[in-house]
Amino acid sequence: MTARTRHIMYARLPISVLWPAVFVWCPLIRAQDSPGWHRYVRAPSSAIVRPVTILSSYTRGDVDNADGFVTGSATTVFSRADGSGEIPTVVVDFGQNVVGQPLLEFAGSTNGTSGAFPGVRLAFSEALEYLTERSDYTRSDRAQGDPPQLITTGTDQIAVKNSPYTWEDQWTCEYDNQVCSDGLHAFRYVRISLDALTTDSPYTSAEGQVKISSVSLRWSGYLGTADTFTGWFECSDVNLTQWWYDGVYTVETGTDIFRANDTEPRGATSASLLGKLVLHDGAKRDRDPYMGDLAVASLTSYLSHADASDATLNVLEDLATHQRADGWIPPASINHYTLQLFDYPLYWITCSWDYVFYTGNTSYIEAHYAVLTKILDTYYPAHTDATTQLLVRQNGYGDFAFLPRSGSAAYYSALYVLALNKAASLAELLSAPATQDAARWRERAAAVSQGFQETLWDASASAYFDRKCIGAGCAAHAQDGNSLAVLSGIANGTAASAALAYLSAHNARFYGNAFYDAGGEELGAGFSTRVYAFISYFEGAARFETGDVAGALDLMRRTWGWMASRDPGITHWEGIGADGSKYEAADTSLSHGWSTGVTPLLSTYLLGVRPTQPGFREWAVNPMATEDIDWARGVVATPYGPLGVSWERDAAGDIVVTVDAPEGTTGMVGGSASKGKGTRIQGGQMIVMTLPKSL
Ligand SMILES: *[C@@H]1O[C@H](CO)[C@@H](O)[C@H](O)[C@H]1NC(C)=O
Ligand SMILES: *[C@@H]1O[C@H](CO)[C@@H](O)[C@H](O)[C@H]1NC(C)=O
Ligand SMILES: *[C@@H]1O[C@H](CO)[C@@H](O)[C@H](O)[C@H]1NC(C)=O
Ligand SMILES: *[C@@H]1O[C@H](CO)[C@@H](O)[C@H](O)[C@H]1NC(C)=O
Ligand SMILES: *[C@@H]1O[C@H](CO)[C@@H](O)[C@H](O)[C@H]1NC(C)=O
Repeated sequence: MTARTRHIMYARLPISVLWPAVFVWCPLIRAQDSPGWHRYVRAPSSAIVRPVTILSSYTRGDVDNADGFVTGSATTVFSRADGSGEIPTVVVDFGQNVVGQPLLEFAGSTNGTSGAFPGVRLAFSEALEYLTERSDYTRSDRAQGDPPQLITTGTDQIAVKNSPYTWEDQWTCEYDNQVCSDGLHAFRYVRISLDALTTDSPYTSAEGQVKISSVSLRWSGYLGTADTFTGWFECSDVNLTQWWYDGVYTVETGTDIFRANDTEPRGATSASLLGKLVLHDGAKRDRDPYMGDLAVASLTSYLSHADASDATLNVLEDLATHQRADGWIPPASINHYTLQLFDYPLYWITCSWDYVFYTGNTSYIEAHYAVLTKILDTYYPAHTDATTQLLVRQNGYGDFAFLPRSGSAAYYSALYVLALNKAASLAELLSAPATQDAARWRERAAAVSQGFQETLWDASASAYFDRKCIGAGCAAHAQDGNSLAVLSGIANGTAASAALAYLSAHNARFYGNAFYDAGGEELGAGFSTRVYAFISYFEGAARFETGDVAGALDLMRRTWGWMASRDPGITHWEGIGADGSKYEAADTSLSHGWSTGVTPLLSTYLLGVRPTQPGFREWAVNPMATEDIDWARGVVATPYGPLGVSWERDAAGDIVVTVDAPEGTTGMVGGSASKGKGTRIQGGQMIVMTLPKSL
């Protein structure tokens, strides 16, 4: 235990019939004296990362000491005297998905008969099933422009010099446009072979001898060792606990400086982003921050590394400065800020709310209020159906999954209602509160909600239709529309339970809940078998908010349990396809921040901590768990200091919760949005109270 020496008081709480407050001592675990959670941390211990092993069954050709460059026991020697025989090959496993610049320490080489330097060829992959002679992804696969910035043809090449040296992978060519490499990679496996492209002649050839004394990686991203965590989480279910840290690690792999030579190659480089810390969508692909993805990734970031909140702020501010005259905000810098997504400006609003409430930076809303009003008062009103009040997607625009659903999709309007209400609460935070705007936006949210209920409710299914439409796909019911109808408060209690029950009955797969029921197949093949962990975050939150804790945990165990048990393990995938496959095969990003919803779900609901005023000046603690969870504890960072919560079940099955809140804050313990009860607590004291299990 270090710095924190505050006096601990036990407040007497009023005893009421509903809220018997019982004072019992239970051991409280506090931020600094709780290294128990350290074992779950996934980050490498230092910025130079070493592989774990070689996959010996993949070794081919003439290779001496195949594992020497991993164990450090000997130099590994690849030989192919005259270009005949098998290509000497070793596959190296880093044990988990990692991101950065690969480093090879060469102990020397001997030219082959052709007199050229021997070549080394590298092919990377996140999962073993996509390890081939070609990388699962290189930036050149997406190269655009005139001339296209294509430099590799899917593998990284080296012309190995005769004297010892260390080679670091850079996005460059050794000789004009020959012997090229891709630079940064995110991968678990790398296939190293003594080989050369014929197009790299005369600089390299597939013959000679190469000696390698070590293989490693210079980490890029947030190096989230245990000492860097500002918040943490632990509970009696070790799997759930581990996935919390897996989510954090996934976001760490994408928390990086925006650089010209390792980000999205399709016109994403932007002078206003270069050199800034951002949250990229993916570690391998989609190295560009997208607004919607931050709806989940930023929460994971605030809850684990509050010091990295600039990574969110930089993106919010950059996209705000690129607002179009009609109020629309680009989703990302890709295509020079012209990629047309219809839903992402709404995430700019919900992400702004999250930023202000998690960090307490209210000057942000003063600075960007005009941007907010333009989104809500100029852009979306121009795309609203005057009869139904529902949003109508602008022609030529896509959404988070580029879904071919024109018209009034439930998801757009439900997200709109959520954003309108969040915007209203931001308007009230201004130093001169914009109460009229707030009232107006809440009224509009109510009108959209009414139109939504009247237009989209499918009484025969007891769920909301995907959209009001004519033609193909009209029978579909989507996870996004139904989950957000619940989360935004559009659905009344009966409709909310029915809609979530519908998803359980029709969208549940063994690897998560599909984003469409069978009706979605009319929109796109495979839609009823595809799972997005991203949108599943909203379903999980909707289940918790309506008290369906068992349903939320079941959803989490299927979705994140599936990914945890498959290659590459640990990191969360962009999407899951039929039968639990990687939904876009080799191209799928297997470390994608938007898929880390398990982390905020556990902190916000199972531990039960959330801000109700900016910076947790007011907070709520409302643990929610099924009876197979015996205890949970954790810390959430606030600008006032760490907010610690620990709960465990007593013999009667009730939850005994200990809250250690920082001075200068107040909060409600045990109150839930739906039940409205709770006990108000002042920060600066540690309190212990019992919450009835019937919560
Ligand atoms: C190996 O080949 C390179 C490139 O052709 C050449 O520059 C170098 O001198 C050769 N090494 C020896 C030892 O001949
Ligand atoms: C990539 O960018 C970094 C920093 O911006 C620079 O140091 C490096 O030389 C660049 N590499 C290439 C190949 O352009
Ligand atoms: C945790 O995960 C492992 C491996 O997937 C599984 O065998 C085990 O049953 C899980 N434990 C719980 C409590 O769910
Ligand atoms: C708070 O937000 C303002 C406006 O967006 C920004 O300029 C400032 O740097 C932020 N403060 C911190 C501490 O991040
Ligand atoms: C709840 O919502 C559903 C669907 O919108 C509607 O059919 C039902 O009448 C509503 N029930 C009440 C009590 O308002």
